[in-house]
Amino acid sequence: MNILVLGSGGREHALAWAIMQNPKCDRLICAPGNAGMAEIATCAALDITSGSAVVGFCEEAAIDFVVIGPEAPLAAGVADRLRAAGIACFGPSAAAARLEASKAFTKEICAAVNAPTAGYAHFTDAEAARAHIRAQGAPIVVKADGLAAGKGVIVAMTEAEALDAIDTMFGGEFGAAGAEVVIEEFMEGEEASFFVLVDGETCLPIGTAQDHKRVGEGDTGPNTGGMGAYSPAPVLTDAIAQAALDQIIRPTMAEMARRGMPYQGVLYAGLMIKDGAPRLVEYNVRFGDPECQVLMMRLGAQALDLMLACAEGRLGDVSVNWADDHAMTVVMAAKGYPGNYEKGSVIKGLETCPEDSQHMVFHAGTRAEGGQIIAAGGRVLNVTARGRTLAQARERAYDMVERIDWPEGFCRRDIGWRAL
Ligand code: AMP
Ligand code: GLY
Repeated sequence: MNILVLGSGGREHALAWAIMQNPKCDRLICAPGNAGMAEIATCAALDITSGSAVVGFCEEAAIDFVVIGPEAPLAAGVADRLRAAGIACFGPSAAAARLEASKAFTKEICAAVNAPTAGYAHFTDAEAARAHIRAQGAPIVVKADGLAAGKGVIVAMTEAEALDAIDTMFGGEFGAAGAEVVIEEFMEGEEASFFVLVDGETCLPIGTAQDHKRVGEGDTGPNTGGMGAYSPAPVLTDAIAQAALDQIIRPTMAEMARRGMPYQGVLYAGLMIKDGAPRLVEYNVRFGDPECQVLMMRLGAQALDLMLACAEGRLGDVSVNWADDHAMTVVMAAKGYPGNYEKGSVIKGLETCPEDSQHMVFHAGTRAEGGQIIAAGGRVLNVTARGRTLAQARERAYDMVERIDWPEGFCRRDIGWRAL
């Protein structure tokens, strides 16, 4: 098969790495890709949010299967255009991608099937939103309705913070994403992520993970896209995973199908767990980044078979070949991230890191220039390892971190502390 992966981050490098190991893959193209992907596949410049550009490229390059990494092409309807052109594709339709693109839509679907989640109210008017906050008090959570690159959520510990968030959102800071807001009850508990493949009907769990969103050790400092992750998530026990499937995921997926927008792709359920019971924080319609890196490390080549079965509506006939293992990824970022940081520094020592089924440095923001690897983003490398225990995976990952010679970069030294 000729396979195209859309995206250019560590998530997509990990997807490409797993796909390449499967003998079904004859030719792999990544668009636009990065320096890490260029080492294992061909990279192609392509506007990945344009359905016609992607379909045209697939026809020219005789692509049989497209794996869509990020949410932007999904929300833009690229999966719809591919399916209409008869090209198999992994990723939901634009209608189904509203589970990530609109928080109000997701809350309404949850309400329709009584799925456990935070209580909420939806506003298009700032004054009414302020009155609601004053009536409810803090802590309270204010969310821009639309996609805001992970920045549209304010967990307000005081009423003043929540009112400020309303001013910011209705003041246009998040553009159209903030013209509507959802205000939610604050949920306490421990967060974990649950990844489930859905083929429109059948739901197949493929793993759990936890990430570290704060930039600083001990989970302090500003929020980031994620500074590290590990899988499995010990807090998401089999019983809690089963409850999440029975009470949240299967009912909402059945409701999507009933409304004529069956979900096809990976569903990433962010869960809040307290007293042995899960509640939905949010859905994402793609793999998490860096959660995907630890999932791919554990699934390996079978990831392609699972994604194909998902795209072809055959999830009822397949199963996951589980290993009793653990994986960890440590994000190396440019100093200053998530604030201002410099691009263009040289990363050395990557060739001294092992590359096998237990060790892999996935590239996030890199480019190759004159035989060197150059930092080209905020989150730059995902140093990823697998082991029999989480402690072994951690040791292997941090051993690779030591080999990487990049004075302009940094990482957290405590990834996995909650689980260890
Ligand atoms: P979201 O983009 O919806 O995942 O929100 C980002 C983060 O905000 C989540 O990962 C949680 O840590 C936090 N969060 C969102 N909604 C709530 C809530 N209702 N209660 C407590 N924390 C929340
Ligand atoms: N790591 C969080 C996300 O991908 O949304």
